[in-house]
Amino acid sequence: MNKDVIIACDFSSRAATLEFLDRFPEGRKPFVKIGMELFYAEGPAIVRDIKARGHKVFLDLKLHDIPNTVKKAMRVLSSLDVDMVNVHAAGTVAMMRAALEGLTRADGTRPLLIAVTQLTSTSEEVMQQELLIGAGIGDTIVKYASNAREAGLDGVVCSPLEAGMVKQACGPGFLAVTPGIRFADAAADDQVRITTPARAREIGSDFIVVGRPITAAADPVAAYERCMKEFTLSF
Ligand code: C5P
Repeated sequence: MNKDVIIACDFSSRAATLEFLDRFPEGRKPFVKIGMELFYAEGPAIVRDIKARGHKVFLDLKLHDIPNTVKKAMRVLSSLDVDMVNVHAAGTVAMMRAALEGLTRADGTRPLLIAVTQLTSTSEEVMQQELLIGAGIGDTIVKYASNAREAGLDGVVCSPLEAGMVKQACGPGFLAVTPGIRFADAAADDQVRITTPARAREIGSDFIVVGRPITAAADPVAAYERCMKEFTLSF
């Protein structure tokens, strides 16, 4: 699978999102991520609009519920013709299998399905003392990724710094989709475990998810092209 840059379209409205996408030249159609804020504000129509403009869409809704509910919800998301969706691996192997079943269309095709392991906002201390998960954070991430693989998922969302150990445990074809990307000469914002597009490529990320370094740049198109160049080497 070709490496790609996914732009996190963390805008609060359809107008702001389309205004941003309009800055790209005709024919340049970046892969975009639609998250909860935009989806809950604008509903499925925003997905249809962006797909109709020719973009690939990662719908980042992080489903986590009983298997039957997730299966039915995934059937709806699959009908939106998105390219990638996700669940929380903490929902169990049974829930992830149900998600996959719901996503698979009558003709056998389906969007990519990836799992969130541990959110990068969760520290090992909180995991152990608040959630009573006794294992270390690295072991937990590898176990959750292995569960996702066992359920038949395509990969996980993880920090780029964890991509290597996920690949080692789950195989090179298991996708590592990684936020937490910053250019070497830029501010970290609120991200902690970050790396550059070039380093993410070296460690093994398949897709990098990049928000503010592109959306808040003075020239977003140039920032996107720099990201693509550093990450894919072939742009
Ligand atoms: O602006 P920035 O590049 O930090 O945006 C990263 C995107 O990836 C945001 O949409 C954020 O919600 C998402 N994300 C993340 N860390 C995770 C999971 C998702 O930063 N562990």
